[in-house]
Amino acid sequence: MSTSQGFYRSRIAGTGSYLPEKVLTNKDLEKLVETNDEWIRERTGIVHRHIVAEGEYTSDIALKASHMALEQAHKKASDIDMILFATVSPDQVMPNTACVLQEKLGARDCMAVDISAACTGFVYAMTIADQFIKTGMYKTILVVGAEVLHKYVDYTDRDTCILFGDGGGAAVVTRATDDQDSYVYSSHCHADGSIGDLFVLPAGGSKMPFTQQVLDEKSQYVRMKGREIFKHAVRTMSQCCDEALKANNITPDDVAWVIPHQANVRIIEAVAKHFGIPMDKVVVEIEDMGNTSAATVIVAMDKAIKDGRIQRGQNILLTAFGAGITSGSLLLRY
Ligand code: ACO
Repeated sequence: MSTSQGFYRSRIAGTGSYLPEKVLTNKDLEKLVETNDEWIRERTGIVHRHIVAEGEYTSDIALKASHMALEQAHKKASDIDMILFATVSPDQVMPNTACVLQEKLGARDCMAVDISAACTGFVYAMTIADQFIKTGMYKTILVVGAEVLHKYVDYTDRDTCILFGDGGGAAVVTRATDDQDSYVYSSHCHADGSIGDLFVLPAGGSKMPFTQQVLDEKSQYVRMKGREIFKHAVRTMSQCCDEALKANNITPDDVAWVIPHQANVRIIEAVAKHFGIPMDKVVVEIEDMGNTSAATVIVAMDKAIKDGRIQRGQNILLTAFGAGITSGSLLLRY
């Protein structure tokens, strides 16, 4: 399908997701730090998170999700023109995890790149995919959001260790044909580096390579100003959603489902309240997975597609915020 401006339109042809088998419950965390199940449920909405097994990596999670997405899209790995892999927990710094996934999938020679935008990663990657489809450059793009975050969490720090988990999802994005009532309307992405210190992982880059001092100071783990992030999360996701609706002259009533980043159910409820959207039109899967950063939006979307909540022809609004601080929204007709 091409627009009046002569661009092609992109659509999500298939999705998949995978959460590792091993589960870390709130009760398990009670044994590690001074916390309790009731506090975690009430303050975050999280009941448990999934943790990879020994020898299971971010690319393995992505591989499982990608196979499912390709199958649903009726595509083969050899059809993929580009792999966009949103993650802040790559298998290793080099080579990028998109290339690792390309090899594991048996995909052909194609552009394969990681997108680092923390929890907004999937929305950012979808935005990039949409542009490559729009211009006619590519026809089939694999967009992945996958993380193994539990390895970046200090299990003596109750502020952070209760929040994060591992998991991943994938979407096959293709060029929409004229007979398909299914397309991306628009996306709206932002960044504000001036408040980047709200959520950081200090070590492992060129600024702070690994040393004994890093390990002694636990700088290999995430550090977070939770209360401040909370405020910015509500503000940025609400603004990004407003932008998406305004740009397309669509009201909240026209939206069947909102799929926000799953960081804290209270953040999600505040965003829904901002719109006057009832919570039964919001996909919430945080209970089962915690915050899986770039994976949350696509995992939640895939779950809602597989259990029949999301139907073809519905308007779906994705929104996320993350370290950076990055934020974004993407409105699509599924
Ligand atoms: N168990 C029990 N008590 C706790 C715990 C815990 N795990 N953690 C903190 N507390 C205590 C605090 O010490 C504090 O005690 P005090 O009142 O005696 O000082 C009390 O609970 C309240 O602490 P707050 O920090 O005010 O709790 P809040 O309601 O803000 O919830 C939370 C904290 C869950 C971290 C919330 O602020 C939040 O979700 N923020 C956003 C975090 C986030 O999204 N991070 C990632 C963003 S980027 C990305 O997604 C990659």
